[in-house]
Amino acid sequence: MRQSLVVGNWKMNGSIEANRSLIEGIKQNITSVKNSEMAVCPPFVYLHQIRELLKDTSISWGSQNVSQRDSGAFTGEIAISMLVDFGCKYVIVGHSERRSLYGESDELVAEKFAKVQSAGLIPILCVGELLEEREAGNTETVVKRQLDAVLNLQGIASLEKSVIAYEPVWAIGTGKTATPQQAQDVHAFIRGQISALDAEVANKVQILYGGSVNGSNAKELFTMSDIDGGLIGGASLKAEDFLAIGQAG
Ligand code: PGA
Repeated sequence: MRQSLVVGNWKMNGSIEANRSLIEGIKQNITSVKNSEMAVCPPFVYLHQIRELLKDTSISWGSQNVSQRDSGAFTGEIAISMLVDFGCKYVIVGHSERRSLYGESDELVAEKFAKVQSAGLIPILCVGELLEEREAGNTETVVKRQLDAVLNLQGIASLEKSVIAYEPVWAIGTGKTATPQQAQDVHAFIRGQISALDAEVANKVQILYGGSVNGSNAKELFTMSDIDGGLIGGASLKAEDFLAIGQAG
C-alpha cells in the first residue's frame, strides 16, 4: 500500500497573519486526518515562519520552485541549500505555471529535479497536458515527454525517491476537475511507463492528482487505484477544505 500524500501549493498567496491562522486551523484538527501525510508549500519568504509553526507536528513543508544552480550571481533565485536550511522535505518542480508563464523547458525541469535529489530532498515532479493537447489526442505523448526528460537525465532509480503529480493544465484553478476515470487512465499510463523499466519503482512511487481538487471530489479521485493523493491549489488555503481532502486519503 502506498501512503496517501496531500500537498498544499499556496502559489503566490499568503501573509504572516493569514498563514498563522491557516496553519493554526489545520493543526487544530489534524487528528481528523488518519491516512494521509499532509504538507504545505508556501512562498519562499514564509518558509521560516512555517517551519516555526510546524516544527513539532506531523505536517511537512516544502517549496514551490528552486534554482538549478548552487549559488552565486543569480539575482532573485533560491538555492537548494537554502531550502535544506529551512527544513524543507519537498520541492515542487515543473508546475505548469512555471512551464507556461516562465518558460521552463522539460530539460530545465529535469535539472531542477536532479538538484533537489542531490540535496536529499524529494522532488514533486508535475506533468500534464494543455486542453489543446488533450483534444488533439496527445495527452500520453506530452506526459511521456515530460517524464522522459527526467528519466534521460537521472535514470529510473531516481523516481523511487520522488513524487509525481499529474495535473491536467485545463483543470488547474478552473473548477473543472478531470473525472476520476480520466485521471486514473493517465495515472495508470504513467505507472505503466515506469513499470516497463522497473516494476518495483512503479509500485512504490506516489502519483498525485492535481487540478480543482476540493473536499467534495477528493474521495472519488483518491479511491482510484493509481491515485495516491493530491496536489492542491485553491482548496489548500482554507483549513477546513484542506483537512477534508486529507481525510479522503
Ligand atoms: P488548483 O491548483 O487546486 O487550484 O486547481 C492545483 C495546482 O496548481 O497545483
